[in-house]
Amino acid sequence: MNEEQRKQQETSSSQEKSTKDYSQYFETTYVPPSLKQAKKRGKEDIAIHYDFEIPVNMQQIGSGKKFLIRTYGCQMNEHDSENMAGILMNMGFVSTSIAEEADVILINTCAIRENAENKVFGELGHLKALKRDNPGLILGVCGCMSQEESVVNRILEKHQQIDLIFGTHNIHRLPELLQSAIFGKEMVVEVWSKEGDIIENMPRARKGQIQGWVNIMYGCDKFCTYCIVPYTRGKERSRRPEDIIEEVRHLARNGYKEITLLGQNVNAYGKDLADVNYGLGDLMDELHKIDIPRIRFTTSHPRDFDDHLIDVLAKGGNLVEHIHLPVQSGNNEILKLMARKYTREQYVELAGKIKQAIPNASFTTDIIVGFPNETEEQFEDTMTLVREMDYDSAFTYIYSPRDGTPAAKMQDNVPMEVKKARLKRLNELVNEQSAKKNLDYQGRVVEVLVEGESKKNPDVLSGRTRTNRLVNFRAPKSAIGQIVHVRVTEAKTWSLNGEVVEMSEVNG
Ligand code: 5AD
Ligand code: SF4
Repeated sequence: MNEEQRKQQETSSSQEKSTKDYSQYFETTYVPPSLKQAKKRGKEDIAIHYDFEIPVNMQQIGSGKKFLIRTYGCQMNEHDSENMAGILMNMGFVSTSIAEEADVILINTCAIRENAENKVFGELGHLKALKRDNPGLILGVCGCMSQEESVVNRILEKHQQIDLIFGTHNIHRLPELLQSAIFGKEMVVEVWSKEGDIIENMPRARKGQIQGWVNIMYGCDKFCTYCIVPYTRGKERSRRPEDIIEEVRHLARNGYKEITLLGQNVNAYGKDLADVNYGLGDLMDELHKIDIPRIRFTTSHPRDFDDHLIDVLAKGGNLVEHIHLPVQSGNNEILKLMARKYTREQYVELAGKIKQAIPNASFTTDIIVGFPNETEEQFEDTMTLVREMDYDSAFTYIYSPRDGTPAAKMQDNVPMEVKKARLKRLNELVNEQSAKKNLDYQGRVVEVLVEGESKKNPDVLSGRTRTNRLVNFRAPKSAIGQIVHVRVTEAKTWSLNGEVVEMSEVNG
């Protein structure tokens, strides 16, 4: 069976299975997902809860036990894993990085492209052996993949080693679900397709003490035709400004040096807040006043990037001059088919406005090649746009059809070899630009937030500039978590090497 036939067989059998009623197999919770339901956008208000607590009888369930969370995908997922870790620790579990030691393993999954999903299924296969050696082990699957019917059905059919599946809207239900999984005999499945309320005070075990993620909104209403996220993450829901500001203040008081504000489409922040006229620009303006060295945000949609935000970002200070502005394609027909709701010209104009207001801003982007029926000329438009924008770097992807999205229904006449060749050409251009940009840094003194030991050499420390460039240099370990000034001595394609300079030399 070739890859195409295998996929076809898999899709048709999973479609067939989705009509099956699995509920008879379940003694406990069985709430399966539905992408169709997830697509609906209701008008009902989202309530905010400040009263999350772990029931007393569940607070010791993990006593003497260990947990491990494996996280795939974006920062949103990383941050969700911090919440889950916080919940588990409040149930008495302690964290481990060794799978063989763990009593609970949660796989927090990503659905954005097929290869992300394949990695997860590979990992589930590996976990079978662990479960065989340790039948008491609880294996859970959560995150975006668990929001897809086809995935849940495939797990039910082929991965009986899994004890628990829960969705992105069910994280606060982890104590109850885990209790059912530990004490029940059947697989526990609880995936709400419709988003729930905002739960403000979930416990959180943050990964580091230097950089912190702060959610400002959940969900996405953009429905770009290729993207699964609006289905897996629900409708746009903004947190209250005062809750966000308090969280950032709290992190500042606790010595954090950098905050990244998170949302699938942060520029839509505040649009759903009925009682206030308040957007991302207003929020950034408030955060600008907080005594914390750096504030970033991700990820932006060009459509909602307004002038007020640009004016506020131009104030600089702790608002860093790095703009991640996903473009996806440089061709207007493709942008239309993607339902991005801007043209190439509008994108370039917006970027021009930002560059004018923040002349030293670095720009990065996301690009998809090989969208259904993308012609050579249309791809060339993306190449010319990349040249014109002169990006500092770009995340580039081959289009991956996602079941249930409009683009997945489009006929596609572009062979995979052509898509791969386009990606290669695009990457060569991006790398060339990135290397050239790095050369501009040579000899300059840059401000670096020291993140830790370099991955390749523990004797070397590494950190990032305000523009998010990776810098490696030698310094005492005590510099970790500090902001230092580094003179760039060597530019590589992906990183810079340098040496720490004394503060007195900085302006000299
Ligand atoms: N195929 C390929 N890339 C995708 N992205 C989102 N959906 C898909 C898809 N179906 C990319 C977009 C987005 C980034 C997070 O992932 O470029 O900005
Ligand atoms: Fe993956 Fe997107 Fe979900 Fe993040 S939001 S986990 S990138 S699918």
